[in-house]
Amino acid sequence: MSVRERKFFVGGNWKMNGSYESIEAILKFLTEGNISHDTEVVVAPPSAYLAHVRQKLPNNISVAAQNCYKCNKGAFTGEISPSMVKDVGAEWVILGHSERRNVFGESNELIGEKVGAALEEGLKVIACIGEKLSERESGQTNSVVQEQLAAMAAHIKDWSRVVIAYEPVWAIGTGRTATPEQAQEVHAFLRKWLSDNVSLSISQQTRIIYGGSVNAANCRDLAAQGDVDGSLVGGASLKPDFVTIANACQ
Ligand code: PGA
Repeated sequence: MSVRERKFFVGGNWKMNGSYESIEAILKFLTEGNISHDTEVVVAPPSAYLAHVRQKLPNNISVAAQNCYKCNKGAFTGEISPSMVKDVGAEWVILGHSERRNVFGESNELIGEKVGAALEEGLKVIACIGEKLSERESGQTNSVVQEQLAAMAAHIKDWSRVVIAYEPVWAIGTGRTATPEQAQEVHAFLRKWLSDNVSLSISQQTRIIYGGSVNAANCRDLAAQGDVDGSLVGGASLKPDFVTIANACQ
C-alpha cells in the first residue's frame, strides 16, 4: 500500500464496560499484541478506570476520556472536567458521541463549548458526528454532519489536536456497517467542508476516521478508502480483534 498522507488512527471506545478483572485481558492484548508503529492508538476506558489504565499501558498507546464537561471545576455533580482528565494522565477526550447526543440530550451548542474547553486545557479531541437512519433516508446526511461539524469548528483554533470521527448512528452497535463507499462519500464531503470553511492545508492534514460496527472482517476495506484515516471502535475494542483493526493500515 502507498504511504498514507495522514497517520492512521484507531480509537477504542470501551463505553460503560469493564471491571478491574475484565480490563486485565484487554491490557494484555494491547500490550502484547504487536500493534503497528504506523498507527496511533488511543483507548477510552470509563472514567473510573482512566488512571489505572494509563498506569498499566505502554506509552505508545494513549488514553482518552469518553466525555468531559465544559468547565474545569464547580458545582456540576457527576461530571468530570478537562483538567481532571489531564491530571490523571489522559491526553484525549471523545466528545459529541452519538450516545451523549441521543441518550443524554447533548446539543450541538454544548458539544462545541466542550470541544473548546478541552482544547483550551491542552487535551486532544476525538470529535464525533453522524446522522440517524431517518436523516439518511430523507437525504439529510450532509446537512446534518455539516451542522454538527460547524458547531465544533467554531471552537477549534488548533486543528492538529482534533480527529473527526464520522459515525452514522444507524451503524453503531447494530452490526450494520456503512459500506466503504458510503463512508468514503461522507468523509470526502467533510474534507471538502474543511477545505471550504477552514483551509486547504487543514483539510489535507486532519484525520477523519469512521465508526460504526467496525470489526476484524471489514476494517481493511474501510481503511483502503482514500479519505478514511482509521476507525473508532466500540464493541470490538474489548476483544483481541482490536489489534487486527489497529493494524488495518498495513
Ligand atoms: P460499535 O461502536 O463499534 O460498537 O458500533 C462504535 C462507537 O460507538 O464508537
